[in-house]
Amino acid sequence: MPTVRLLAMPGSARRDSWNRKLLAVLVRGARAAGAEVTLYEPRDHEMPLYDGDLEAAEGIPPAAARLQALFAEHHGLLLATPEYNGFFPPLVKNTFDWLSRPLPDGSGKPGTVHVRGKPAGIVAASPGVLGGIRSLQHTRQYLSNLGFLVVPDQVGVPKADSAFDTEGQLQDARVRTSVEAVGAAVARLAMKIAGG
Ligand SMILES: Cc1cc2nc3c(=O)[nH]c(=O)nc-3n(C[C@H](O)[C@H](O)[C@H](O)COP(=O)(O)O)c2cc1C
Repeated sequence: MPTVRLLAMPGSARRDSWNRKLLAVLVRGARAAGAEVTLYEPRDHEMPLYDGDLEAAEGIPPAAARLQALFAEHHGLLLATPEYNGFFPPLVKNTFDWLSRPLPDGSGKPGTVHVRGKPAGIVAASPGVLGGIRSLQHTRQYLSNLGFLVVPDQVGVPKADSAFDTEGQLQDARVRTSVEAVGAAVARLAMKIAGG
């Protein structure tokens, strides 16, 4: 099997984010299936709000160029994202909108060349009863528009404030297995695409 590398990103910059905890479960599933995983912390790579005038004057921000380069080196995406008013949060939209802008190498190619045809797995966690499932359909559509192959399975974890134990593990074994399975599905698809 070829070695595949996945980029794992929480859709929240919040220090005690439930989605960062959930991402760790997704990552465990992908690693158990043989993938190498790199954690991408949006809070460490601050990007300005997308602004066409800023882009025209200065090009894409260094953080966006670094993310494009990271995707060039990775075979897929693991994303655990909150739901804000039934949608995924602006942090996710802003990050990937910048990613999609033309590469800074003068080729004129969009940043999406580095994500097209690469698998993605999406999960959500919320203290509410729906577990962010309303946002997942929009996340799926958005990532598909960018060219990702979003794997069919997805999981929304409700009542996130009581779903994790003190070690950060999901207490409900069935939910834990479902989340890990999404990570494993991304790893396996990435391996198939890489020729395994
Ligand atoms: C602007 C805003 C809108 C929100 N809308 C929703 C929502 O539509 N559905 C939901 O389940 N939770 C909603 N929440 C609550 C979030 O699920 C909660 O803040 C959660 O902890 C965010 O994820 P995090 O813990 O990973 O940061 C909203 C929170 C904010 C700040």
